[in-house]
Amino acid sequence: GATHYYDFVLKETNFTKLCSTKSILTVNDSFPGPEIRVHKGDTVFVNVHNQGNYGVTIHWHGVKQPRNPWSDGPENVTQCPIPAGTNFTQEINFSSEEGTLWWHAHSDWSRATVHGAIIIYPKRGTTYPYPKPYAEKTIVLASWYKADVMEVITDALTTGADPNISDAYTINGEPGDLYDCSNETTYRLAVKYGKTYLLRIINAILNEETFFGIADHNLTVVGTDGAYVKPVTVDYIVITPGQTMDVLVTANKAPSYYYIAGSPFADTVVPFDNTTTTAIFEYKGNYTLPSPIPFPVLPVYNDSDAAATFTNKIRALNSAKHPVNVPQNITRQIYMTVSTNILPCPNNSCLGTSNGDRLSASLNNVSFDAPSMSILQAYYWNLSKDVYTTDFPEKPPTYFDFTGNVDNITLYTSLGTKVIMLDFNETVEIVFQGTNLSASENHPMHLHGFSFYLVGKNKGNFDNATDPLKYNLIDPPEVNTIGLPKNGWAAIRFYADNPGVWFMHCHLERHSSWGMDTVLIVKNGGTKATSIRPPPAYMPPCSKS
Ligand code: C2O
Ligand code: CU
Repeated sequence: GATHYYDFVLKETNFTKLCSTKSILTVNDSFPGPEIRVHKGDTVFVNVHNQGNYGVTIHWHGVKQPRNPWSDGPENVTQCPIPAGTNFTQEINFSSEEGTLWWHAHSDWSRATVHGAIIIYPKRGTTYPYPKPYAEKTIVLASWYKADVMEVITDALTTGADPNISDAYTINGEPGDLYDCSNETTYRLAVKYGKTYLLRIINAILNEETFFGIADHNLTVVGTDGAYVKPVTVDYIVITPGQTMDVLVTANKAPSYYYIAGSPFADTVVPFDNTTTTAIFEYKGNYTLPSPIPFPVLPVYNDSDAAATFTNKIRALNSAKHPVNVPQNITRQIYMTVSTNILPCPNNSCLGTSNGDRLSASLNNVSFDAPSMSILQAYYWNLSKDVYTTDFPEKPPTYFDFTGNVDNITLYTSLGTKVIMLDFNETVEIVFQGTNLSASENHPMHLHGFSFYLVGKNKGNFDNATDPLKYNLIDPPEVNTIGLPKNGWAAIRFYADNPGVWFMHCHLERHSSWGMDTVLIVKNGGTKATSIRPPPAYMPPCSKS
């Protein structure tokens, strides 16, 4: 493959939206940030120059980074932040992904404005497994806050309460016609009658999953998370933060304007941004504008059944050229609850709950306590003492009734930096069990370093005697993020064939900040080719070591 070089200059830039101007952290002055375009098999070096005011890291979401966790990016998991005024070069190898992925900051909430698309074309000399589209367009969904996002999360963690919700969603940086002071800049996707377009849709929203559609036009999903799927034609899609979807749309309706819209899928009682972002699907040519402009029919915000109807249709392409490799037998099963909880607040000073506690979140009732040093460096140099422990519980607390009655269980969790150790090439199944503690919600669970197969998912409590018999081991979608349904479970499988230190977490930023995270450490195999690569000559310094 070819080698590409990019410079990412992180700096504060002024943007005006929703009638007010503020400074946001950007890459190369743009929001969303620059696109990386490669072919499968290529290598990219990105020199990240931090000219902002605080330490930041950058992550290449969905890129497996074989044997090279050094460039993966999550703050204090694989590296310490790049200090302001310094730079760090990351190497990204596109060994097996094909389709759309994205990059984003992976420290505090800076990913709100620091993100962009990664487009991976088929290996040179090969083609898409679907008819070549006339043109391709990237659609990035994101959140916009009038306030400074770093203050939003700092305030929430200080008071222990829910963070403030966003003021708008955006499509390619623009809120759209339904928000104040926004209709001059609404994103317009120009199309020619009769042509088919590939939309590469990325959900970079911070805290809500999304329904998305185009008025009067069908969407044909052909890929997700950098892998192909069997084409499926739908009226709307559901996309969680972290996910990408490649969708074909044919401009075959009367030439006109049609609204494109994204609205939240948030089946919850906790506060969320219940607004709708729009763009315009605009045919070229002369016509009189309809009034009103047709608007897509999207499910209401809490329609979990509509979300499941969509996600249950997604199957891996599983063709001769793009086969699946689903582990049929597992050597390791990890069963983990996913919940929001509370934690005692130091000095009872919090406002988060009535008795001075703060909101938190956990996996198997362990709330991830981010270390102040990189776990990868601690592991590699045998400095794990005081950084992490290897006793992550592989089964939930027995007193949890998960999705059932929660009256007689404690909401309290406890802090820990507990990692999961895996031997090289174990065949792993992780069952995520949504658990009703302080509130039941959907959770987009994401794993670094791998894509995995979503072999099963349903409502209620997982039953290890019967549910595995119903798994799809034939053509499950190969993804890096799954929407764990509210009051339900999801099972994933993968080969632990990538030695390294890999973060796993909910991609709702407020949950991740509250501790809905853990780390998988995959040990080296017996050879150089199955071991973590040596570290680069320079890594950003860790102040505590
Ligand atoms: Cu999209 Cu841990 O990241
Ligand atoms: Cu979550």
